Amino acid sequence: METIGDFSSRVQSRLQELVSKSQSLDVDVADERRQLFDLAQSLCSELETPMESIYRLIVIQPILYMSVRIAVNLDLFDVLAQDGNAPKTVKQLAGKVGADETLLGRILKNMAASDLIRETIPGTYEHTSLSTSLLNLSHRDGFFFCHDIMLPSFTATPQFLAETKYANPSNITSTPFQLGHHTKLTFFEYLAKHPKQAQEFNNFMGLYATDRPRWLDEGHFPVRDILGKGANTEKDAVLLVDVGGGKGHDLILFQKRYGDLPGRMILQDLPSVVEQAGQLPEGLEATGHDFFKENPIKGARAYYFHSVLHGWPDAACVEILRAVAASMKRGYSKLLINEIVIPDEKAHRLGTSMDLLMMTVVAAEERTEHKWRYLLPLAGLKLVKIWKFEIGTESLIEAEVADDATVVVNQ
Ligand SMILES: C[S@@+](CC[C@H](N)C(=O)[O-])C[C@H]1O[C@@H](n2cnc3c(N)ncnc32)[C@H](O)[C@@H]1O
Repeated sequence: METIGDFSSRVQSRLQELVSKSQSLDVDVADERRQLFDLAQSLCSELETPMESIYRLIVIQPILYMSVRIAVNLDLFDVLAQDGNAPKTVKQLAGKVGADETLLGRILKNMAASDLIRETIPGTYEHTSLSTSLLNLSHRDGFFFCHDIMLPSFTATPQFLAETKYANPSNITSTPFQLGHHTKLTFFEYLAKHPKQAQEFNNFMGLYATDRPRWLDEGHFPVRDILGKGANTEKDAVLLVDVGGGKGHDLILFQKRYGDLPGRMILQDLPSVVEQAGQLPEGLEATGHDFFKENPIKGARAYYFHSVLHGWPDAACVEILRAVAASMKRGYSKLLINEIVIPDEKAHRLGTSMDLLMMTVVAAEERTEHKWRYLLPLAGLKLVKIWKFEIGTESLIEAEVADDATVVVNQ
């Protein structure tokens, strides 16, 4: 049985570790900041009683989520930013957003209690850096999209799994998403019929890539050595195809960083999505393409998939990989897959949460290294290297056409 003394010495040793690590913290090294954050969180876990932890999980966080969802509906964060971010009273805010003052006061108090906004003096509020970030479309639309599309899938999951006798979901037409939304449509078919949610989803995808180290950052994946050196310099040669690239945010970033490298840069996605992408910066091309069909761009230097394959069960994933492998040039083309790779031990909570999220909406998964080593050869590909970056970030899987591969694609 643990004594008060044991508890307090454990808390003190965590605290001392936290203080000593914070003294040598280099804030520019994301990994160091994250390690410190994880340490602080483990200290909080020590200090929180089970009752407090449970209330945080089942009441405080869902209610905060609800409050923010209401606030974005009311454009409250835009209103808070008016007049140069000056603090505003509940009365002023209620008048501007058109809500009952008492009701809005309760919602504001709830958000301030969790530091989402700041209460400067009683009944007066201002932005924090977190609430300011909700002025970005990609950040704000995450709340719309996850609340309206993801949450019904999460809440349907326990019932779905009980009804399917706890089998691992592997059929994209039968997932908690269908149960939660009372639909027979798959996730992407549903989005195609709901343009507002599709737009929010595509904006939200921009958030997923922000605020964490990327393979595109200098000093991570050697783009110039691996893609630039030996790249075909002929006029029509293609440097990078961003397959299922959404609105093209990655391709735009790639061009900013490596636009001097030779070759065309092409965005591919479903025609409706490419249309939504609108006018891309000069030098980038966009074209509609169904990635289950053989890729019409032959022999590009690299084919890039970001957050695409984690959205498909294994069989579909192999089909998509075969369709691209058939267009790759052996010994020249690279396949780059940017995804969370779940480590065998000490997986990060973002990775494990994304894994279950993919399960609930598309019967898919965040794969392990082991799984990639198994899947790629089924499509005639070989894994060259998994480039790993800081804790909790996505890896870059580098693959090529296997030496002995004959790729057959279903047309
Ligand atoms: C999770 S999003 C990732 C988008 C983008 N790569 C990114 O990282 O933000 C998956 C993308 O796959 C696209 N997609 C789904 N089915 C497709 C298909 N059959 N052919 C081409 N693209 C498809 C979706 O439209 C969506 O843009």
